Formats: sequence, C-alpha cells, structure tokens
Amino acid sequence: AVDLIEQAKRKAAYRAVADHFNPEMQFVGIGSGSTIIYGVEAIKDCLAKNPPKGGRYIFFVPTGFQSRKVIEQAGLMPMAFDSLPENVMLDVAFDGADEVDDDLNCIKGGGACLFQEKLVATRAKKFVCIADYRKNQTRLISKWPSIPIEVAPIAHATVMRQLKLIGSVDPVLREHTLAKTGPVQTDQGFYIIDAPFKPLLIQEDVKNGKDGSGKDGQWEVTALAHKIKSISGVLEVGLFYGPNGYEVQAAGGQGGQKPV
Ligand code: A5P
Repeated sequence: AVDLIEQAKRKAAYRAVADHFNPEMQFVGIGSGSTIIYGVEAIKDCLAKNPPKGGRYIFFVPTGFQSRKVIEQAGLMPMAFDSLPENVMLDVAFDGADEVDDDLNCIKGGGACLFQEKLVATRAKKFVCIADYRKNQTRLISKWPSIPIEVAPIAHATVMRQLKLIGSVDPVLREHTLAKTGPVQTDQGFYIIDAPFKPLLIQEDVKNGKDGSGKDGQWEVTALAHKIKSISGVLEVGLFYGPNGYEVQAAGGQGGQKPV
C-alpha cells in the first residue's frame, strides 16, 4: 500500500509539472511535505531535457527549511521570499495538501508548514496543489480530522479556548511524537494547534439553504477561515480557499484510474 501511495504521489506530481511548468518561467514557488519532493524531481527531469535558453536561471522560492533543502539538493537555485523583486509575481507555485474538497479548498499544515506556504501561494499567478487520490474528498474534514493553525506560543491557551467557543470540540497542541520534547515548533518558532470541526460546508451547500455561519458548530470553509484568522494570537490557518486562481490536481491513484 505504501508503494501504491508513493506511486500515486509521483504520478500526480509529474502530471502537475507537465501541465503547469515550463523552462521559460522565471520564478517558481515550491511547497513543503513529502509529495512536493516528487514535484521537484519532475521539474529537475524537465530541465535536464529542456534547459532554459541562454543559461538563464529559474529562481525557486521555498516555503520553509525542508523546502529549501529539497530545492538545493536538486541543484536548483533558491530565492528567499522577501528577496523577490517588488511587483514580481511567481509564475506558478506547486505544493501538496492534506485534503481537498469539491470547491478545491484545501486543508494544509499537516507537516507544520502553512504560513510560508500561504505567503508563497498568494504571491503566485497560479497555485497548483499536487494531491493523490487519498486526499480527494467532497468536503473538508472528512478523513483528515482537524485544521492546523499556527499560533504565537504565548497565546496558545487562549486561542485554544476561543476555538472551543466557535465549535472545535477537542483542539490539541501538536507535540513531537518520538520524544516528549514539548510542542512542535514551526519555521517561525510558533506552535501548531490541530482543531477538529464538523465536516465543512462548501458554497453549494449554502446555496442549498444550509447556514454555515457556525451556529451549532457547522461552518462553511471561507467563513471559518476568516473567523479563525481573526482570533488574536493566530498567525495563519491551514485552510486554503477562495478565488485566487487556485487549481488542484488530484491525479494518480491505482492504475491511473480517476481518484475515488
Ligand atoms: C505541510 O505542512 C503541508 O501543508 C503539506 O503540503 C501537506 O501536509 C501535504 O504533505 P504530504 O505531501 O507529505 O502529504
């Protein structure tokens, strides 16, 4: 099963890169996680076959420590987000996801990166999310149980209380699993709270008369993202949503069948 999953990740990544990357691009965002490693492999393969004309460099903007290492190890040229020239948009940003719904909203942050991922995604002309068949769900919080939220350490307890007030039944502070060395820290030195909610509604549900404003703990994706973001102490929320030209590729799976 592990092999099948890895094959599905690779297949989705090669498809995403074939469809959305070309060697004429100048600035490309690279996300975090285990799937993006295949995305970078696919970009490297593509560039080996079609190097940029005139020895020109393509700059790859990472979304954190792991991401920068992946770029460097592939022999590609990293560029820090805040070194991007003013007014320059990334041609494209590739990233992974933990779950994707029918409106192509995503849960991200399973690997404790989400703030830099959102910075990079919103600076891109096109955001391409590489997701294998397991992550393709009709509504968010179907299989993936909770929303990762990056918070200032000093405020984590109050943020947790606020989350309970808006319907998260049992939010937890993410801790290291192997050794009891305390909370996981992000690239910003912040903490991650994993907040479970009832499965989230999409626009169609609201059009069909469901409320989604959080009464009875039932939220629509965008409304919940705004609500969580407004809590003091929250740096970013692992819900990627909205009309920013986000585009998701849910390819791969067994024998190339449509994801189920
Ligand atoms: C990192 O925090 C995430 O947003 C990842 O992009 C997401 O968790 C997907 O990771 P995998 O590709 O390892 O499943």
